[in-house]
Formats: sequence, C-alpha cells, structure tokens
Amino acid sequence: MRSSLPSTRIDRYGRGEEGKSKRMKMKKSAPRSRDTKTSKGRLTGAGRARAKVPVELGDRSYCVELGIDWLTTIGRRVADGLDAERIALVTVPTVARRYAPMLTRGLEAKGTRVKRIVVPDGDASKNLRQLAKLYDQFLDHGLDRGSAVVTLGGGVVGDLGGFAAASFLRGIPFAQVPTTVLAMVDASIGGKTGVNLAQGKNLVGAFHQPRGVYIDIATLRSLPRRERAAGAAELIKAAVICDADFFDWLEPRIEALLDLDPKVVLPALERACAIKADVVARDERERGLRRLLNFGHTLAHAIEKHAGYRGILHGEAVSIGMAFAAKRSEAMGFAPAGTSDRLIGLLERAGLPTHPPDRPRSAYLSAIAVDKKKQGGKIHFVVLDGIGSAGTAALRPQDILPAGWKA
Ligand SMILES: NC(=O)c1ccc[n+]([C@@H]2O[C@H](COP(=O)([O-])OP(=O)(O)OC[C@H]3O[C@@H](n4cnc5c(N)ncnc54)[C@H](O)[C@@H]3O)[C@@H](O)[C@H]2O)c1
Ligand SMILES: [Zn+2]
Repeated sequence: MRSSLPSTRIDRYGRGEEGKSKRMKMKKSAPRSRDTKTSKGRLTGAGRARAKVPVELGDRSYCVELGIDWLTTIGRRVADGLDAERIALVTVPTVARRYAPMLTRGLEAKGTRVKRIVVPDGDASKNLRQLAKLYDQFLDHGLDRGSAVVTLGGGVVGDLGGFAAASFLRGIPFAQVPTTVLAMVDASIGGKTGVNLAQGKNLVGAFHQPRGVYIDIATLRSLPRRERAAGAAELIKAAVICDADFFDWLEPRIEALLDLDPKVVLPALERACAIKADVVARDERERGLRRLLNFGHTLAHAIEKHAGYRGILHGEAVSIGMAFAAKRSEAMGFAPAGTSDRLIGLLERAGLPTHPPDRPRSAYLSAIAVDKKKQGGKIHFVVLDGIGSAGTAALRPQDILPAGWKA
C-alpha cells in the first residue's frame, strides 16, 4: 500500500527511538490537597509555580512555568527576569479587567513602570494598524532598548504583542502570560509572532523567542467552555502525533480536563507544553519535525478560509481536519484500522466537530492549493502511523482529496 503513494516521508516522531527518549511517564498519583482547594473561590494571585518545562534553544532557552492562582507571583518573576525599567503590558478587554491588576501588582513590586495597553478583542486585531498603534503607545510611554513587553491573553495578543516586541527598536525582550488553552499549549511557545494581512493569516511575522512563558491555570475558569474545547483540540493533537501514553491517559480524563479539575489540567498542560517545547527545540524554524504540529491543519485552513474566519474557532476546524487526516492515514495504509475511530471518539467527547462543512470537493481543492503555494509547491501532509506517531508525506491536493471524496 505504502509504495503506491506519491510521497516522501521526511520525518517522523513518536514510536521512533528519538521520540521515546524524550517521553516521560504520566504520573498517576493525586496532587496535594491544596492544589484542589485553590481551584475554587476568589483568586489571590499569591500562589507559586508547580511545574517547569524547559525550551532548550541555546542562549535563547527559556522555561514554561505552570501554576495555579499565581499571577502576582508571576508579575514579580517576570519583572525580575526581564530586568526592565519600563514594561508595556499588552492585553485585551475581558482579560485586562479580570487579571491585569494582579499581574501588574507583581510587575510593579520593585518599581518597574508598567503601561497597560488594551487592544480590541479578536483575530481582526492582529493587523498592521494595531501594530502601528502599539509602536505609538510604546514611544508615548518612553519605551527604549532597555524596556520590555509582556503579553496577557490568548494567541491573538501573544502574536501581536510578540511581533511588536520582535520589531520595535529591532527587537526588545518579551514574556508571555497566556490565558487560553490554545495559547498555553501552542501559541505562546516557540517564538512565532506576527500579524495577518488582508490577503491572508500570519503573512508577516518574525521568530522572536520569549524570555519566559508563565501559565496560571486559574485564569481558565473564565474562559468559555467552547474556547476550552477548541484549545483542547491542539492538546489532543500533541498527544496523537507523538505520545501514545499521553493519549491513553487523556481518554478517560477529557471531561475532567474541560471541567478544569486541577488534578488533570496541570499534568495535561505540562505534558502538552513539553511536547511543543521538545519539537521547537529540535526544529525551531520548521524545516522538518515542527511541520508535524500542522496535523489536521491542511483541511482546517481550507475550512476557516471558506468560513471567512468567522463562526468556527481554529481548534474546531483543526478537530475536523484531524478526523479527516486520520481517516486518510488509514485509507493510505499508514495507520492501522481503528486509529481514526479512537481519535474521533475523543474529539467528540470533548464536544468538538469532526465532519467538514458540506462543500464541493473542488472548493476544498482550491483552498488547499493556497497552502501548497505557501509551502513551496508541495503540501507536507501530516499522516498518522497510529496513535502517538506521525510523519509527513509530500502530496498533491488531488491525492489528499481523491476523486469521489465528499465532505
Ligand atoms: N504563534 C503561534 O505559534 C501560534 C500557534 C497557534 C495559534 N496562533 C494564533 O493564535 C490565535 C488564536 O488564539 P486564541 O485561540 O487564544 O484566540 P484569542 O486570543 O482570540 O482568544 C480567544 C477568546 O478568548 C478570550 N479570552 C482569552 N483569555 C480568556 C480568559 N482567561 N477568560 C475569558 N476570556 C478569555 C479572548 O478575549 C478571545 O475572545 C490566532 O491568531 C492564531 O493564528 C499562533
Ligand atoms: Zn493550530
């Protein structure tokens, strides 16, 4: 079966020896009781880090630190780590109202001057106009080469604020405080920053690694369940492409994860962050391995484009794309029968969609062709070898969506 594929496997991850050496055992033990206590009631911001994941990139290495109810502590650590006289705190309205005061208290503890900059909510803010506004406000606040940026919010402010930091005065340091599941396990790690153009998403940007990523899982309490599930799609993606143990562990715990049971959220996020960190450390510039993180994204991008990036969340489109890619992996003989059923079962229990919107094959083909242009003529389609192991195949759009394929 495999030999009939017009494909070249360029890299793999997961069951291979390389993948194995980096994997850890999921802990089954229950956390200390005070972990659960802090999951309810008013936040104090005074907690501490409970887990640390290194992102090893030589002199640009940093850590992803996770904790519960520790925003003020985060503020102090960020200020110490950045050692900047002035900090621009870039955030969005909902998050600013709830969480900026606690974070700012910590940032200002040793006299750092903090300017809060609130950008409008939504992906539409990730554009050149907002970027130019940020530069203006940085200058108004007197930011110079000794200053820094802190982003507080989802992937949108992380990408926008991160790119502002990457480009202002040819680059100043920044730290990420992600507050969505998607930003925690995906967008905040790995240094991809940027904005959208009218012609497409993420067309302008830079690699600029943060000095640190600080996750407070207590901030997820205010995140709508639909957004939590969409972020969980990227977490499930991390498990299914390279960590079968994690996938096994997640299957009976997905509801608890979405309910934010700290016994589940903390280890699940830690593991997903470790996977992203490991992939980024081995392929920072997406020349091979990092492409595996695009599992499910070929069809997802087509779905998002057709929808005009409205009405469907990125993680929801990725869920549909993963279900599709898993079925194709089976049909092409890469993955054993039953692989896609297991993945689809987990996605559906997370409340995620798994069926593509009803459109003609030709519409999907032309949208996929755009991805092909961006990737230099080939689509590096990510296929599963089974649960926990993936590789890429260079395919033409018509091989990804064979004749007779129906949404
Ligand atoms: N840089 C990368 O590597 C990378 C990777 C994946 C995605 N992204 C980018 O990330 C963006 C999507 O990120 P996202 O899904 O986090 O979207 P988002 O930043 O728009 O956040 C989603 C929504 O949740 C709200 N929100 C955030 N935190 C909240 C909280 N704690 N409580 C209540 N509401 C909260 C936001 O205001 C927003 O309405 C896209 O622009 C995408 O291109 C970047
Ligand atoms: Zn994604």
